[in-house]
Amino acid sequence: MLTTLAVAGYRSLRELIVPLGRLNVITGANGSGKSSVYRSLRLLAETARGGVITSLAREGGLPSTLWAGPERFSRAVLAGEFPVEGTRRKEPVSLRLGFAGDQFGYAIDLGLPAPERPPPPMPSKFLLDPIIKRECIWSGPVLRPSALLVDRHGPALRTRDEHGDWQTIPQPVASFDSMMTEFSDPRTAPEMVTVREQIRSWRFYDHFRTDAEAAARLPQIGTHTPVLANDGADLAAALQTIREIGDPAALDAAIDDAFPGSSLDVTTQDGRFEVVMQQHGLLRPLKGAELSDGTLRYLLLVAALLTPRPPELLVLNEPETSLHPDLLPALARLIARAAAHSQVLVVSHAARLIAALEREEASQSIVLEKHFGATRITDEDERDLPPWKWAAR
Ligand SMILES: Nc1ncnc2c1ncn2[C@@H]1O[C@H](COP(=O)(O)OP(=O)(O)OP(=O)(O)O)[C@@H](O)[C@H]1O
Ligand SMILES: [Mg+2]
Repeated sequence: MLTTLAVAGYRSLRELIVPLGRLNVITGANGSGKSSVYRSLRLLAETARGGVITSLAREGGLPSTLWAGPERFSRAVLAGEFPVEGTRRKEPVSLRLGFAGDQFGYAIDLGLPAPERPPPPMPSKFLLDPIIKRECIWSGPVLRPSALLVDRHGPALRTRDEHGDWQTIPQPVASFDSMMTEFSDPRTAPEMVTVREQIRSWRFYDHFRTDAEAAARLPQIGTHTPVLANDGADLAAALQTIREIGDPAALDAAIDDAFPGSSLDVTTQDGRFEVVMQQHGLLRPLKGAELSDGTLRYLLLVAALLTPRPPELLVLNEPETSLHPDLLPALARLIARAAAHSQVLVVSHAARLIAALEREEASQSIVLEKHFGATRITDEDERDLPPWKWAAR
């Protein structure tokens, strides 16, 4: 289980340390930084898949995703005596992401290439391409030199052997690749493989498509589907998989909880699976194409949350979208149920969903707010924030 998420220099997350529990609800006003927290977790996941630089590029590149405010606020600025614009950046560009868990911690620090003097014979044009400056894996909750297990400094990588002595890896790591994708020999760095597989198992769901052309509405070739796809295209197969090898009673209960008197079925024709719903008061069942957006989205969430193969971490971004508020308590019960098997993080601004989740055991709300343009946790001063240390460059 993750115990801490730490982000620095990413969008409005100037320096945010988030304590995590079993079931976490991230909430806050518009613009407070919820989506940035979601995206920073996704970036971490991309790192373990070798796609962090591409993902940053898709977001407009490092310069645009970096915290746009000053490195620190002087007392005069905080007191309102001095405008923020008067301060200049002095420190090198740095976007840092990390987490600590029960077993290991991981952190990455991205920056820009330093201008070389004298210039190399073949100057690079990738001047705005982020490079990985530092990457570490350590054991225990906080980074300490003695707890370091894998340590990357630019291209140089070293790992600890079974006697605790440092072994330098002879090949340099490419500036644009995470050490986790470049180097993953389980004999020399078992922790690296563990951390990489842990991160790769995180599962994210964000805004399912439910428009008329959405794949979830149409019959699809059905194969055993213990994990619903991100676009929900294999909804019918995923629901049927729950019925056959998962928890069919929970599936029926989830449908009845949201739509009393209705029942769900999956029809097959020539190997193609389709969702149909028998609704109270109708003479014939409704096909996927005929379901309302909210009904379809609820079914997608049911399939995602009742997965017979629960991930270590499940992250849901604004699952309330297009659901009627009356459905939110049923959704909260499903989420709480999923939290028995997975650590869950929900980003939401639906008051009813948040209130229902807050009533669940082991749930905690993290309310974000903006302070001088930077995201912070509302009761940060009173809350016991977990300790966190970044590695120096
Ligand atoms: N590079 C940056 N530096 C500082 N702040 C930024 C940067 N890029 C975006 N922001 C600001 O970060 C804030 C948080 O954005 P985010 O999208 O995370 O908010 P949100 O809580 O998801 O809001 P909403 O409820 O409207 O979706 C916004 O106010 C945005 O303007
Ligand atoms: Mg948002």
